[in-house]
Amino acid sequence: MNVLITGGCGFIGSNLVKYLRRVRPDWTLVNLDKLTYAGNLENLKELEGDPQHIFVRGDVANRELVEHLLSVHRIDAVMHLAAESHVDRSILGPEAFIQANVLGTQQLLEASRVRGIKRFLMVSTDEVYGSLGPTGFFTETSPLQPSSPYSASKTSSDLLALAWHHTFGLDVVVTRCSNNYGRYQFPEKLIPLMVVNALHDKPLPVYGDGGNVRDWLHVEDHCSALLTALEKGRAGQVYNIGGNSERKNIEIVKAILGLLNKPESLIKYVKDRPGHDRRYAIDPTKIRTELGWTPSHTFEQGIQETVRWYVDNSAWWERVMSGAYRQYFETQYRTR
Ligand code: NAD
Ligand code: DAU
Repeated sequence: MNVLITGGCGFIGSNLVKYLRRVRPDWTLVNLDKLTYAGNLENLKELEGDPQHIFVRGDVANRELVEHLLSVHRIDAVMHLAAESHVDRSILGPEAFIQANVLGTQQLLEASRVRGIKRFLMVSTDEVYGSLGPTGFFTETSPLQPSSPYSASKTSSDLLALAWHHTFGLDVVVTRCSNNYGRYQFPEKLIPLMVVNALHDKPLPVYGDGGNVRDWLHVEDHCSALLTALEKGRAGQVYNIGGNSERKNIEIVKAILGLLNKPESLIKYVKDRPGHDRRYAIDPTKIRTELGWTPSHTFEQGIQETVRWYVDNSAWWERVMSGAYRQYFETQYRTR
């Protein structure tokens, strides 16, 4: 199998590339990544010199480049992860999200159709469903009610992928996963940001009352679900991915402080995120029963290992927290 992975230098993408090299060693992976602020080749250092990982710097919206890669590498399947991924950034500047997530996905779908790709895996998100009240779960038939520019752009790409299946017969599978955590997550997202701030004895900015709930899944469990969906998913179907691991944000922040032996006085409640979704919770019954996928990490064990990794790899996050990221980070703080 020859697989084009888009966004393979980001958090989930780099974990996925390494996971696939381990569990499908005979596959060749072509990794197309624009290397935005969130893309980091250092995440894939251990694959240097590996002839079955081919990195190409480029934009998924570059139709000519994508078509060239699909044909020259005889690509069988596409796993589409490339996206602008951070909700707060989408509130500060939505345009990049429409460009990458909507227009970029459209170009990739069209190139895949023209070049006769056998399977297109669209990596979507549970944020397409909007917010839940205190009870209930998102199923694959829940209404799509995205709240932020990020989630609206992801809903657009998710629906475009399904339209390319229904209208043009492209073999598409869509996955909608809950919040991931683990190694190499950019320190703008909740868990790594809190770890890094706590290590520096800086305030931990908790939005609103800290009672918002996310449903956490270890990134390697997401990777195994993506492989399962790629290999076993039915064309035109949507599969929710989640590990039944709901936590309030404030619980996570306190757990991190506990693991780092830092005081809770570092917690700083700040102005809420505009349009902040209150609760996400995934019903993963379909992927579990139909495709036989199960997660293998517990949150308690996973968060301990993840916090340890950030403590042991300060050189990694110190390097990524520079330049463009710092500028954004300062804007975030000025507005709160
Ligand atoms: P990330 O921001 O860490 O990585 C995104 C990667 O895409 C980066 O390497 C970046 O350089 C690349 N990229 C961005 N625009 C590009 C373009 N136009 N062309 C080529 N490459 C481009 O994101 P992540 O957290 O790893 O998320 C990956 C995917 O999974 C996204 O589609 C996201 O919506 C989805 N997802 C994420 C989560 C989560 O909790 N992080 C949960 C569900 C779904
Ligand atoms: O649910 C899947 C989604 O999860 C993915 O599609 C997105 O790409 C990914 O970024 C993530 O979105 P969230 O908005 O849920 O993740 P984030 O880490 O930004 O925030 C998690 C929660 O923590 C959310 O309720 C906002 C809150 N938060 C976040 C930050 C960065 C804070 O309270 N303080 C913060 O500083």
